[in-house]
Amino acid sequence: MSKVVVFGSMNMDLSIACDRVPQVGETLEGFGFICNPGGKGANQAVASSRLGAPTVMIAAVGNDSFGSGLLKGLCDSRVDCARVRSLSDTTTGVAVIVRTHGDNRIILDPGANHALTFDDVEPIMRDVLEPDDVFVCQLECDLAATYSAIRLAHELGARVIFNPAPARVFPDDLWECIDLLCLNETECEIITGILPSDDDSCRNALKVLKERGASEAVLTLGFSGSAALHGGDLLRKAPLAIEAVDSTGAGDTYIGAFAVALLEGKDLEGCMDFATKASAYTCLSAGAQQAIAWRSDLDAWDAPEPRIP
Ligand code: RIB
Repeated sequence: MSKVVVFGSMNMDLSIACDRVPQVGETLEGFGFICNPGGKGANQAVASSRLGAPTVMIAAVGNDSFGSGLLKGLCDSRVDCARVRSLSDTTTGVAVIVRTHGDNRIILDPGANHALTFDDVEPIMRDVLEPDDVFVCQLECDLAATYSAIRLAHELGARVIFNPAPARVFPDDLWECIDLLCLNETECEIITGILPSDDDSCRNALKVLKERGASEAVLTLGFSGSAALHGGDLLRKAPLAIEAVDSTGAGDTYIGAFAVALLEGKDLEGCMDFATKASAYTCLSAGAQQAIAWRSDLDAWDAPEPRIP
């Protein structure tokens, strides 16, 4: 059976809620502190594995207590972590997250996420990646290694899902290697110059992304759902009408779920529906990986209808 291979980040998330963001020089009382496994790459891998795809992780952590906690979290989610390196000369990636009213702001110290070079990653990819596997990556690891990994995954015949987060413009030659570009509003604005805020701007931004060379592009729009182009027409998926507790990891869940749905042979709309439901589930409780559904939980969830726009 084909699988999902993720090259990406692993962070320990230190996350605290508050009613508003503090001003400069102000100390604010928060609540609901949690320390839980995160990192865009690891979240995507956990979502893919828990939702039913064999999943391999390529990553690095520090040889410290956060690193061993992250590795345990991945293994408990049945992700194949045999190739995750534990390094003594660096620290595990840490994300400090401030949650306000279901939304979040993140500051990241990448640590070990920047340690792997393409020389480290290439032999692993050549060993594990097979044609028709889905290769997933983001931009929280070493950039040169990530860009070369995308080129190699394409050369090896894998389907490449690229999540350009945190946002930045990437090299032109990568576009033709991308089977699915999945990005949020901020990332879209930085890459295309268009903020996707309504149907027209979504359509224009998606056209630009496809003209640049991505085979498929999906915009994840938070509380406004997601959008793609289907035969030239705008396909919009409204978010489910849930009460969001915390959106941390929801976008990552969307991507992991999309990868699973692709492997299961679903079409674009089927992939978006499955990813919409899985990411909504992640918003029901606090934290990143600790909030991601197992397939049995997702199938059993009597999800609310989509929110009426
Ligand atoms: O996308 C959410 C993730 O971004 C968090 O888990 C945090 O670790 C940062 O990488």
